[in-house]
Parts: sequence; structure tokens; C-alpha cells
Amino acid sequence: MRPTSLTCLLLLSSPLCCTMNQASLTVSPSNSQMFEGESVSLSCEEDDSSAGWKLRRNTTRETRKECGDGWGRSAGSSCKISYMSPSDSGVYWCESREGATSNSINITVTGGSVILQSPVLPVMEGDDVTLHCKTKTSNLPADFYKDGSLIRTEPAGHMTIHNVSKSDEGLYKCHISSHGESPSSWISVTGKPTTTAPPPVSGAPPQLVFTLVCHLVVFCPYFISTLLMVSLYRHRPTGNDPPVSMATSPPTQTEQGLDDDYDDIITSVTTEHHF
Ligand SMILES: *[C@@H]1O[C@H](CO)[C@@H](O)[C@H](O)[C@H]1NC(C)=O
Ligand SMILES: *[C@@H]1O[C@H](CO)[C@@H](O)[C@H](O)[C@H]1NC(C)=O
Repeated sequence: MRPTSLTCLLLLSSPLCCTMNQASLTVSPSNSQMFEGESVSLSCEEDDSSAGWKLRRNTTRETRKECGDGWGRSAGSSCKISYMSPSDSGVYWCESREGATSNSINITVTGGSVILQSPVLPVMEGDDVTLHCKTKTSNLPADFYKDGSLIRTEPAGHMTIHNVSKSDEGLYKCHISSHGESPSSWISVTGKPTTTAPPPVSGAPPQLVFTLVCHLVVFCPYFISTLLMVSLYRHRPTGNDPPVSMATSPPTQTEQGLDDDYDDIITSVTTEHHF
């Protein structure tokens, strides 16, 4: 039946298109570096659980590998890795069934004895950020490096950058003497959203186009199926209707008007054919 398939199309296309599917990836504990043997939980905080968000990752060995397929234990839109090893280092993200993606997070697992604890998510411009240089057991004096250059030596093993600006963005690592060096982590800084500034110009037109396409995709099947329904209603056999139903459901004013218009069109078409 064609109207049925159109209705299906309508039902399929609306969640696919008009709910703005979004998710953000969170990591617990919220560290971008960890020691071998630690466990970690990753979860997709989503707007719409029916979108089927799943964890995926790129490592040096695999690309777009889904949680549960050779790594991690999947539970709904979350994933748990009970023993992280250096080969689990990579970039992790959430992806919906339709291919929408969340933010991505770099995780580095070291077999060494020093890690740099830095924010997993981008830092807001103007905020303070604290970096911790740690061994498994203690906080020791540490040297901090940015983009390969020593920037500070901190006796307590942690350093705070006050009033972060875009120039603080970079690749950080630390070093603890007699223990060694941590892996490097990229710290990204994002501009603070201001309420007075207009939204970025580059973002607006695609959004508008998206909304337009949305409406077209959703309302076209609606329109077509409505037309089909009307034509089916018109061509429905009426001769063998029992008279009782005629009496209990008289045509409404609009139906009457539509029928009259329709008859007029048919008459005019027929008239044209006579010429
Ligand atoms: C994962 O790897 C693929 C192939 O190299 C690449 O196209 C994609 O951008 C990567 N994803 C992320 C989030 O880095
Ligand atoms: C991940 O690390 C790479 C290389 O250090 C960097 O270019 C990229 O921006 C990082 N991604 C995130 C989400 O931090």
C-alpha cells in the first residue's frame, strides 16, 4: 500500500532529521592521562537515547572501533574499560546510529611512572587551570614543559595558570627527577561565550538551511499522503453504501465545497476535451 509506505517514510524521517541529535562525552575519572591498570568509564550524555549513541575510538592500531568490539564493556550508551593499557591510548568519541558525533577526548595511558593531570575538556578563556604532575604514590617536585620548553619548576608538583588565554594553548608535559617524564597532553582553550556578541556568522546559514531541509523532508510526505488520502476518498465506491450511514454522517461544509470544486474541475477538463 502506497499510503502506508509514505507514512513509514514520514515516521522514519522525522526523528532522523528534526530532533537535533547531540551528545557529549564524559570520562570518569576525568583525566586525560592514566597509569596502566587503571579503570575508566566513558559515557555519552545524550538528548535522545533512541539515537543509539555508542563509544568509538581511534588508536594507533584501529579506526572507528566500537566499544564491545574487541575493547571495553558496553552498557547502553556507556563503556567501561577495567584495565587500561598503553595500547588503549587514543581518541574517544560518541557516535549515533545516523553518524552524528560528540566532542572527542584524547586519552593517553602510560606504562611509565609519571602522569600529567590536565583538563580533559577545553579550558575557558579567563579561567584558572591547575596541572598536577604525579607518580602513582606521591606528589614530588616537578618540572613543567610547554611545547618542549621548561616553563616552571614547582616544589609541590602542581602548577596553576591563572586567567587562561589563547596563548596558553599547547602541548604540556612534566618531569619528576628520579621517576621520569609524563606523556604529553594537548590543552585547548576556547573563547568565553559572551551574551552581547552576535552568534558566529559562519554558524547561522547552515543552521537555516538545515531547518529548511528539515521542514521540506517532513512536510513533503505529509503533503503527498494527504493528496493520496483525498484521492482515495474520492475514488472510494459509494454506490453500495447503506443509506443509514449517509444519514448519520452527512458531509461537512468543507467536504461539500471540496467535492463541488473537484466536480467543477472535472467538468471544465471534460469541456476542454470536447473542443
Ligand atoms: C579516526 O580516524 C579516521 C581515519 O584515520 C579519521 O578520519 C577520523 O577523523 C578520526 N576520528 C577522530 C575523532 O579523530
Ligand atoms: C588530541 O591530540 C592531538 C595531538 O596532540 C591534538 O592535535 C588534538 O587537538 C587533540 N584532541 C583533543 C580533542 O584534545
